Amino acid sequence: MNAPEPTVNVLLDPDWASGSLVDDVRRGLGSRPLRLPPKWLYDDRGSALFDQITRLPVYYPFRAEHTILERYADDIAAACDATTLVELGSGTSEKTRLLLDALDATGRLRRFVPVDVSEGTLREAAASLTARYPELAVEAVVGDFTLHLRHLPGGDRRLVAFLGGTIGNLYVEERAAFLGALADTLEPGEWVLLGTDLVKSVDRMVAAYDDPDGVTAAFVGNCLTVLNRELDADFDPDCYRYVAFWDPHEERMDLRLRAEVPQRVTVPGADLVVDVAGGEEIQVEISTKFRPGRIAEELAEAGLEVTRTWTDPDGDFALTLARRR
Ligand code: SAH
Ligand code: TRP
Repeated sequence: MNAPEPTVNVLLDPDWASGSLVDDVRRGLGSRPLRLPPKWLYDDRGSALFDQITRLPVYYPFRAEHTILERYADDIAAACDATTLVELGSGTSEKTRLLLDALDATGRLRRFVPVDVSEGTLREAAASLTARYPELAVEAVVGDFTLHLRHLPGGDRRLVAFLGGTIGNLYVEERAAFLGALADTLEPGEWVLLGTDLVKSVDRMVAAYDDPDGVTAAFVGNCLTVLNRELDADFDPDCYRYVAFWDPHEERMDLRLRAEVPQRVTVPGADLVVDVAGGEEIQVEISTKFRPGRIAEELAEAGLEVTRTWTDPDGDFALTLARRR
């Protein structure tokens, strides 16, 4: 018998340089403050570095969310009646296996739809999940969760999981737009499972994004390498220092690259020349931390009603189940 095969639907232009990367870079580096959109961090090298981050002792969010799923995946599965699990920003879907096991055990689960911009990682994950769950239809989507929600397969009761605190990587206005678009895509009665990192001691949050071995610095710095390769840019990555700080007003980690010396950077693929001043920073990523009330409020505003919330024993991370009204 042949091994079952996942289907892979590619919605993203596989040639990044001809797709939205150019627009993103023109917008982000064509005005001040300099900003690079974080989805371009995840080429193959970036995805491998992120995988390493999840194993760092200081990076508590991965373990905390894993603990919640270990303890409560059965409760989550029992609390919703989904037959399809969609996962946005699925990466390796490592933690998701706990959820798939629990949903599988209810006997209702038919289909898994992992969605990610990182095609290589997604294909590997899809193949390994098909081997592990031969009865499950795995329909992977190479796509952008800020652009392609409307194109996701539907037709039955879906649970959309968005784990890893990835929603915290969106700016506040992007987050509202995302939640609104997600709610619009769902039929009344369909489900969302949202993973959010919670506000905690500043020391621990800063440590989680500034590990002593520099894995996180390499991950964030990788965006310059991506631009050099995809758009023929001439960033000298050695001239930039990684800076991670807590923004107490916005309640988010702010992750930047600071130019140690002035540099004129040309980005031929985007028709751009940027004079980066000495000490100037490029904003690469934020990671917003939440308070439980705020999550429920924002979901409600989008038309998603919270049915239950689970946290780990240390109260570091939350999983929130909500239902489309
Ligand atoms: N869910 C996994 C991975 C989180 S890292 C976990 O919890 O460990 C964030 C993931 O989202 C990466 O795999 C990255 O490739 C993906 N991603 C980032 N921006 C995206 C976007 N706009 N659309 C789809 N996937 C995106
Ligand atoms: N969603 C993850 C988070 O906010 C992404 C992430 C982990 C990340 N470590 C990072 C993003 C370091 C940028 C830099 O925690």
